[in-house]
Amino acid sequence: MAVLLPGGAGFIGSHTAVELLKEGKEIVIIDNFSNSKPEVLDNIKKITGKDFKFYEIDYLNRKDLEKVFEENKIDSVINFAGFKAVGESVQKPIEYYTNNVSGALILLDTMKKYGCKKFIFSSSATVYGDPERIPITEDCKTGGTTNPYGTTKLFIEQILKDIYQSDNTWDICILRYFNPVGAHESGLIGEEPQGIPNNLMPYIVRVANGQLKELSVFGNDYPTKDGTGVRDYIHVVDLAKGHLKALDKLDKEGKGLYIYNLGTGIGYSVLDMVKAFEKATGRQVPYKIAPRRSGDIAKCYADPKKANEELGWKAEKTLEDMCKDSWNYIAKK
Ligand code: UD1
Repeated sequence: MAVLLPGGAGFIGSHTAVELLKEGKEIVIIDNFSNSKPEVLDNIKKITGKDFKFYEIDYLNRKDLEKVFEENKIDSVINFAGFKAVGESVQKPIEYYTNNVSGALILLDTMKKYGCKKFIFSSSATVYGDPERIPITEDCKTGGTTNPYGTTKLFIEQILKDIYQSDNTWDICILRYFNPVGAHESGLIGEEPQGIPNNLMPYIVRVANGQLKELSVFGNDYPTKDGTGVRDYIHVVDLAKGHLKALDKLDKEGKGLYIYNLGTGIGYSVLDMVKAFEKATGRQVPYKIAPRRSGDIAKCYADPKKANEELGWKAEKTLEDMCKDSWNYIAKK
């Protein structure tokens, strides 16, 4: 029985593929390389010494997707096949809703057709909008997303709740990621944003290697300890391991719809990140203070207690690991 990973060649998907293979699980990856490269697949094999089946298809193509279910015994699906650039989603809402929401629907419908009802979904802390409380617990109000990307996550969560409501033989787990950073310690897989990065860590890395001149710190007048935005950065390998724990829970306990925050529970400011990166790597990160970025909030960090207690999962990597591994991935290129 195999775990299907749509988007398994992407940043979080590839790290999860590694952890699944290391645990001895059989996996099947599908990807259309819209935001990843074929070499990632070889690197997953290099890291793990294990092989897996791969299909270069678009999960919006129902026929191609059905072929994958025909040819393999798919027991569960972890869906990573989502567009994720916030700014781009504002420019291309139709593409985002089509890829993320229609894609998820086609996937879920195909799963239903083949009697596969175990689903793990990559959601995001973005569903909390401007959070009602910090640290954020899973029962905090959702909504108030500020861009189509975030709204696709909210819509898919609602679709999953409705599916479970109509048929409680589904086993569903929604994982709300906080801010994933870092890379595999081998330096073979990591994050590769196209063009100028929007997210903080990829931007810092490119300033450190001289590709970009300086970091713009978006606002230093937030009600935080140094005025800059505070986030819950989590190492992608810790995040990947969270998926294994979620799968374990569905395998062993099943029958339910579960929601977990995957974060460390620690908030770091933008300036904390700059200092930690400089210390961990010995590289300089010149920065200037710039105006606030619209849609940003002051603080966002998780209460990860529910995942700690119910999944037996806890983020273990340090901020130093996150900085070193992010840098190592780019420095190796
Ligand atoms: C963003 C998305 C979120 C998505 C997440 C993926 C928004 C509003 N939210 O979160 O939906 O799930 O990425 O990781 O875009 N910063 C700078 N300078 C920069 C870049 C960022 O100062 O060049 C600051 C931001 O203002 C923020 C912090 O760094 O305080 C983190 O920003 P970023 O990495 O973009 O993540 P989020 O905005 O938290």
